[in-house]
Amino acid sequence: MRLRLILLTLLTCFSSATAHSTPSPSPSPARAIASEIDAKVSALLARMTLEEKIGQLNFPSLAFPHDAQLEAVRRGRIGAMLNVVNPDHMRDFQAAMAQSRLKIPMLFALDAIYAFRIAFPAPIAWAATWRPELAQRAAELVALETAQTGINLTFGPMVDISRDPRWGRVIEGAGEDPFLAAAFASARVTGYRKGGLATSAKHFVGYGAPEGGRDYNGAQISAAELFDRYIPPFQAAIAAGTETVMASFNTVNGIPVTANQWLLSDVLKNRLGFDGIVMSDFAAVTELVNHGVAADHADAARKAFNAGIDLDMAGQAYDRYLGDAIAGGRVSTAQIDAAVRRVLTVKYRMGLFADSPGGVRKIPARPKEEAVRKAAREVARESFVLLKNSGATLPITPKSGTVALIGAAAIATNDHSWYGPALLEKPKTETLLDALKARMGRGQSLLFAEGFADPCGLAFKDKAGAVATAKAADLVVLMAAEDCVASGEGVSRTDLGLSGVQEEMLDALVAAGKPIVLIVDTGRPLALADVSAKVATLMVTWHPGTEGRAALAEILTGQYAPSGKLPMTFPRSVGQVPISYSDLPTSRPMTGDDHSFGDRYTTGYIDERPTPLYPFGHGLSYTTFEYSHLEISAPRMGRGGKVEVRVDVTNTGMRSGQEVVQLYTRQLVAARSRPLRELKGFEKVALKPGQRRTVRFVLNAADLAYHDDDGKPVIEPGKFDVFVGGSAAADLESSFEIAAD
Ligand code: GLC
Repeated sequence: MRLRLILLTLLTCFSSATAHSTPSPSPSPARAIASEIDAKVSALLARMTLEEKIGQLNFPSLAFPHDAQLEAVRRGRIGAMLNVVNPDHMRDFQAAMAQSRLKIPMLFALDAIYAFRIAFPAPIAWAATWRPELAQRAAELVALETAQTGINLTFGPMVDISRDPRWGRVIEGAGEDPFLAAAFASARVTGYRKGGLATSAKHFVGYGAPEGGRDYNGAQISAAELFDRYIPPFQAAIAAGTETVMASFNTVNGIPVTANQWLLSDVLKNRLGFDGIVMSDFAAVTELVNHGVAADHADAARKAFNAGIDLDMAGQAYDRYLGDAIAGGRVSTAQIDAAVRRVLTVKYRMGLFADSPGGVRKIPARPKEEAVRKAAREVARESFVLLKNSGATLPITPKSGTVALIGAAAIATNDHSWYGPALLEKPKTETLLDALKARMGRGQSLLFAEGFADPCGLAFKDKAGAVATAKAADLVVLMAAEDCVASGEGVSRTDLGLSGVQEEMLDALVAAGKPIVLIVDTGRPLALADVSAKVATLMVTWHPGTEGRAALAEILTGQYAPSGKLPMTFPRSVGQVPISYSDLPTSRPMTGDDHSFGDRYTTGYIDERPTPLYPFGHGLSYTTFEYSHLEISAPRMGRGGKVEVRVDVTNTGMRSGQEVVQLYTRQLVAARSRPLRELKGFEKVALKPGQRRTVRFVLNAADLAYHDDDGKPVIEPGKFDVFVGGSAAADLESSFEIAAD
């Protein structure tokens, strides 16, 4: 990738250097490269047999024994493989490709999303930093480690929007908000590509809205809602250059995406202009039979292909049945050529061919381990969200007295590699106990009790010992975790409480009468209302990765202040989900956060307060911030106009800290009911005690468009409220209007 950029620059210099010569306009370098690639693809296509063309659409997973797969590669019947991690296997496949007739380079893909060797925190934690540039760097480093093996495509970023923490895959994305998720989608695509991997924006589309929060279940989403909420992160990924998009397993309004011509061809390829490769998810083509939209695998192959799936991942349906479909006239050779053209064009753009016009891909230099660890620690540190901290219980200082650290997680060394690559070798990691000992000052005593039999508190080891240790201390730090494998694919939950016996342990420690700091490792928002009420301090650390415990020790001892903010709402109870800050007002808007009998006829519940426990964008520091002087550059703008929103933020506490300044808008009247608030800007600022900063946002009228029933953007004149603050509950407000032209 990098080389191509250099070449592009050289070509640019060349064309600008010749600018003064004969006036004939030279095509831009990018256009020149594109047309050269087009010509090469056409020439190659003309030489290919039908079997070789179908081979380029065949994308199996590594199987054992793989001799048959090697033979298929030699015969040109496999153009891409996934899960070839072992270097010997990689060499075998590269050799087999070199023995094939046309020697077409292969895609080698892997779920190297947050980890290859050093495990970064889970992607939801990247979003909790509210610093896309950190996510870009993390993605680049993961890619650099992965690319050393010959892998050239990662199955990331996952950019699914979700408002339902029952769905275990929220851990892979950037939360509930399209604006935040689009920023992280763009950053992650850019990072992986800088690190030498092509990318796969997934899972197109609506996978994060399964009914009941049950993985693989169907989603009912209107076109307006698709374009308002679920498609923007894919648009951002496409704009950032993603080479591929992966279709999702689910149905949208009853039609499986894998067989959905409107979504895959009309919307993704035509309306969004995506000209890369559309791949199925794992065996999703043959699973059209399970959906009941295909009679058999041959029928499934035809329907997926005609809908717009170019690559059949791990289904073998194209390999087995596309030939007959062509012979039977159910698929045309022109369609086959169009799909193969997409595949070959991407391989040329990636520089996989020795004569790639944009330059030949070189495996980038392996990153230094300390650079990867440093970045992983920074992401972890900036991702932790301090949800409450009554009495300024944290940070731990000499004034905290004796500290009792409770929980087997404090001596755990697992990296929470919940998903993705088999880490080739386990990099060393510091336990929290050791990291705390190394950072607590002289005279600060630290006691430890394992308490649980495992890091996720599924069973007790010695409850009485833990309580006795708490009684001997002045402050308790309890380590809790969502069951370590309870996040990711196929892990939907109906209960969002702490797993195992963790709440029972908490109650026993509360009875010991000491202030409690509760640390929760989790891959999803949990329902912690009861738990939160029992503790002085509550902090979420997600799945923090190889450097996570060291980062946590730095935060607990005040070397750094926490600065993470929630990318997803934390509900009071699971009965509230799906829940989001950007809900519609309804005909009977909620009047407050207590649905008392007097408010009976307003939207809410009779057995739960309607508001979340902690709102989207919430997160505390060890200092405090004040917002003032909210100004808008003009009271109105035209539909093509823009305004500047300015606000001052001041560190009013005694410690340095970072604050994420968030800008929300609300359109008061429109043809469609509009959300109570929508995130339209954010910036993370570092402030010393007493320091004040003016933060500026530019709001274009186009940023305020919503989509109609045809998915077309509408900028409707009218009044907008503006809210600025440190969460979706921001209460500093102003307004402006978009004037009818
Ligand atoms: C899985 C996942 C997808 C992953 C693919 C390849 O089923 O849905 O996210 O990239 O298969 O492992």
